[in-house]
Amino acid sequence: MPLVSMNEFLPKAKEKKFAVGQFNINNLEFTQAITEAAMEENAPIIFGVSEGALRYMGMEYTVAMAEAAAKKSGLPIALHLDHGSTFEVAMACIRAGFSSVMFDGSHHAYEDNIRLTKEVVKAAHAMGVSVEGELGTIGGVEDDLHVDEDAAQLANPEEAIRFYEETGVDALAIAVGTAHGMYKGEPKLHYDIIEAVASKIPVPVVLHGGSGVPDESIRKAIAAGAGKINVNTENQVACTAAIREALAKDANVIDPRKYLTPARNAMVEVVRNKIRLFGSNNQA
Ligand code: 13P
Repeated sequence: MPLVSMNEFLPKAKEKKFAVGQFNINNLEFTQAITEAAMEENAPIIFGVSEGALRYMGMEYTVAMAEAAAKKSGLPIALHLDHGSTFEVAMACIRAGFSSVMFDGSHHAYEDNIRLTKEVVKAAHAMGVSVEGELGTIGGVEDDLHVDEDAAQLANPEEAIRFYEETGVDALAIAVGTAHGMYKGEPKLHYDIIEAVASKIPVPVVLHGGSGVPDESIRKAIAAGAGKINVNTENQVACTAAIREALAKDANVIDPRKYLTPARNAMVEVVRNKIRLFGSNNQA
């Protein structure tokens, strides 16, 4: 199957109240692990690619790996730019074969965010590519993005609804109390904001910063209307812990396959558990 836009599966997620996982890819092993778990669970998935990951992997390798995964798995897979910062980077991704893009204009003034997101939506929709927008600021660190958690601003529901109406995005990320990276304490999610927005718009709310959020909070967020949930850090933690363990066990190891195989297996486990928690298993 070729890569698909998020509109292949998000309307069904919205209607049936499950969430599709966006798992960020950082290299071949991430891509393989996510695909393997999705195949085992028969789940639609989204490969998230930050601008930093794109620079690391290179555009051609990124698209080729995602296309290979979609072809091999036969699953609906979207290749999605995560936190795209400009119109130009979004267009470069679409030209290269991305099937979905996020334009993150959340650091701009509200009206500017609407205007800039609208431009991306117009161009992307003409190419059959889906678009995610963002409102409010999500705290934590994600590659080049650093937002002080105290400075992170929750989304205002009325503004979010108008943002959807004016831009026509296919998914809307709103700041509701989660943050990128692992949490020091337990995150306090504002389910009322998710519910207030999701009940008034026909597309799902996106929950960023899915790593380290307790299972029960994830279930409540999905019940309130989160239909796409992003996870990156938990895979990074599992990957690196497995590599550390393999290297510590044998100081003479030099074959990367010896430590990347357990790393990949650890990520399959993380993704499988998230897919089941999100309820997207058997929804491909
Ligand atoms: P985590 O790294 O906290 O899982 O967040 C991922 C994310 O939201 C990507 O946009």
